[in-house]
Amino acid sequence: MQIRQPIVAVLGHVDSGKTSLLDKIRGTGVQAREAGGITQHIGASFLPSEILKKVCGPLYVKMGGANQEIPGLLVIDTPGHEIFTNLRARGGSAADIAILVIDVNRGFQPQTNESLKILQNRKVPFVIALNKVDMISGWKKNPKTMFISQSVKEQDSFVQTALDELLYNVVGTLSILGYNSEAFYRVKDFSKEVAIVPVSARSGEGMPELLAVLVGLTQQYMQKKLDQTEKKTRGIVLEVKEEIGLGMTANMILIDGTLRKSDSVLVAKRDSVIVTKPKAILLPKPLDEMRDPRDKFRPVNEVVAAAGIKIASPDLDGVLPGSPVYATTEESTIDDLKKLIESE
Ligand code: GTP
Ligand code: NA
Ligand code: MG
Repeated sequence: MQIRQPIVAVLGHVDSGKTSLLDKIRGTGVQAREAGGITQHIGASFLPSEILKKVCGPLYVKMGGANQEIPGLLVIDTPGHEIFTNLRARGGSAADIAILVIDVNRGFQPQTNESLKILQNRKVPFVIALNKVDMISGWKKNPKTMFISQSVKEQDSFVQTALDELLYNVVGTLSILGYNSEAFYRVKDFSKEVAIVPVSARSGEGMPELLAVLVGLTQQYMQKKLDQTEKKTRGIVLEVKEEIGLGMTANMILIDGTLRKSDSVLVAKRDSVIVTKPKAILLPKPLDEMRDPRDKFRPVNEVVAAAGIKIASPDLDGVLPGSPVYATTEESTIDDLKKLIESE
């Protein structure tokens, strides 16, 4: 078995705090590791397992359980504004698991529902980050711990009641939509109940448990999906754009397999599936190396899933964002892969 990192999509209504949540996690990670080392992929950030371990502390082992350890998480941020339905859907279709972010004081909102439909359609399991608990009236940040389970216990009882009321509004809505859900500290079986993790992207409370629940779910229930043995090389196009010095490029998520510069790459245009050889495969440099913005990317000869990457080729003009991508070293499989894309 060779387990790749799970792809985690972050979805939710505009301003629920998706980006802030990721910033907090990345920040915490950078601090925990001191020297940095978090790679900023295109539209995706890679959180290596050392950082997850440091943020989660003893919970990492407790939630994990399984013997096959994931090598980190690839997290895709998506926009919450209503006009970006397509981007949410693309993020959702690359995802193995998702974080649905809900503003605790606002509960379900239009794009919460829309995000949930995307996850439902694609059968993506998810956890809920019930964000902005620091905005609950009377909430006191516990200076001694980032663990929300601890922090909740030490709030005044009227604050605990307020949190539970807001949380059970979400549980109620989810139940109408067909899901059993519960605060993660009351969940008995993570395979049957959607875990709700109260968090604050501002204070950082709840981050250890949010990550631990994600890691636990992927390690326990997704081994087979994540195993790279005999997986086809495939991905999804997020965006197609022209870049100075590179020409036509596609930002994509490589979901499975290894992509090599010598591969034939198949993607869809409006009326046809094209086969192209990438002129370049580009990996974004880690943020701490990105001194000169003109020098953002590092060309590589091959890249292993999961990863956010950019490929360059003049043939990419007109490729549809959202198109599946397949790649192969064997010319003989091209026709089958074409059919596969046409059928998707
Ligand atoms: P879109 O990408 O536009 O959909 O928004 P988003 O979901 O990424 O939300 P974003 O991170 O941009 O946060 C929206 C606003 O909420 C910002 O002003 C944040 O500072 C604020 N915010 C996010 N999380 C928290 C939180 O936990 N507590 C408080 N008090 N404010 C928060
Ligand atoms: Na925002
Ligand atoms: Mg955002």
